[in-house]
Amino acid sequence: MKPDILDIHVIGHGLTATLERERNGEFLFTYRTDARTEISLTMPLKDTPDHFQRLPPVLETSLPEGALLEAIFEKLGKGIRLTDDFGILKLVGRNLVGRLAVVLSGEPIDPPDPFPANEHLLHILRSHNSRELVTRAMVGLAERTGLSGVLPKTFAMSSERETRVAIPAGKYILKTESQEYPGICVVEEVCMTACRKAGLGVPETILSDDGKSLLVKRFDLGEEGDRYGFEDFCALSGRSRKEKYDSSYEAVIKILSLFSTEPKKDIRIFFRFFALMHLLKNGDAHLKNFGMLYPSRENVRLSPVYDMVSTTPFLRKDTPALTFAGKRSWLGTRKLVAFGIEQCGLTENEALSSVRECMEGIGETIPFLRDLYSRHPSESVARTLQIFEVSSKPERSSLSFSGHRNSKKGT
Ligand SMILES: Nc1ncnc2c1ncn2[C@@H]1O[C@H](COP(=O)(O)OP(=O)(O)OP(=O)(O)O)[C@@H](O)[C@H]1O
Ligand SMILES: [Mg+2]
Repeated sequence: MKPDILDIHVIGHGLTATLERERNGEFLFTYRTDARTEISLTMPLKDTPDHFQRLPPVLETSLPEGALLEAIFEKLGKGIRLTDDFGILKLVGRNLVGRLAVVLSGEPIDPPDPFPANEHLLHILRSHNSRELVTRAMVGLAERTGLSGVLPKTFAMSSERETRVAIPAGKYILKTESQEYPGICVVEEVCMTACRKAGLGVPETILSDDGKSLLVKRFDLGEEGDRYGFEDFCALSGRSRKEKYDSSYEAVIKILSLFSTEPKKDIRIFFRFFALMHLLKNGDAHLKNFGMLYPSRENVRLSPVYDMVSTTPFLRKDTPALTFAGKRSWLGTRKLVAFGIEQCGLTENEALSSVRECMEGIGETIPFLRDLYSRHPSESVARTLQIFEVSSKPERSSLSFSGHRNSKKGT
């Protein structure tokens, strides 16, 4: 096996391409002559090889960041360099989100899945120290886990036959809070619930009994074991993961128009997401927190919601992750309606009812949030409750038709 050549498989479509690291540190990407499908929406099939200065962006989508990346370095020490994306991909490439598997040239792609399963998973979710247990599971399999994001996390699975209770069969992402963000999994659970109630597609989530960890069902896997393509907006805009904050929500809409096979519908869905992001004060909706999901090139859609979290309970002065109209500021309901009309092509009526439904979804989540607060009290959850209370009943005038017209006059 050659250490500097990787095979790229599209699961379900076979060995598709190779990526070779050249002596000068550049990469040579070549589709096989028998390739049946492309590895990325941005890389059409072609006969001639392409040179890349860094990894092709699609292969960066699931490269570890944050706690997982630290765990890899702690385990492997001098065996790996922090900046060596190719070396990290070589380790984790077999287990990526989406439909790609990357292995050393000539290696098979299908060893048994070693991630926490069934009784072990149940034990973690029921324990009073799930943070330690998830962290231990993450460290145990760190160098085989292709998952991005800052919080500690690992893959997990549950099968109907053996799990007698509580966890539906399926494959999951299991994440846990970090020391910097106590209460973040409770906050994510309630924000995801509000999105669900507001009508957005949201994967199933299960909060651990101690409130410190969250199990999120993977949406890139079909019921029959089939895999869907997944590319985040960082990759789709050709940016590296270090540039995930260097963009705008206008650019997000452009990416949607370019890649979605149902752009109008997806831009409406995005509007709802954008409204919830402002109402919930989520300052971390960066380019890696949006993705396109596709079973095939003919059906490319905005993925279900993930990582929706109020961030101002943790960072009081936090602002939106990307710019809109050149600024990072929170929009009130009137400006949200204007955004829906001007940027997303909605009528005033449609934008108003969409924002109202978001507010209602937040309001309907409050009893659940209060209940979780009574079981897992923390400052961050208390502040989240305040946000929910304010955002579910905004000033009366701001959501009237004349309110919007006045706002346009005033600007
Ligand atoms: N339900 C899901 N199914 C498939 N992939 C997912 C799902 N949820 C998240 N992902 C993938 O896992 C990555 C990390 O998840 P997530 O964004 O929740 O982690 P995080 O640590 O909270 O991230 P951040 O650093 O943005 O705070 C996402 O960027 C996405 O690629
Ligand atoms: Mg994220």
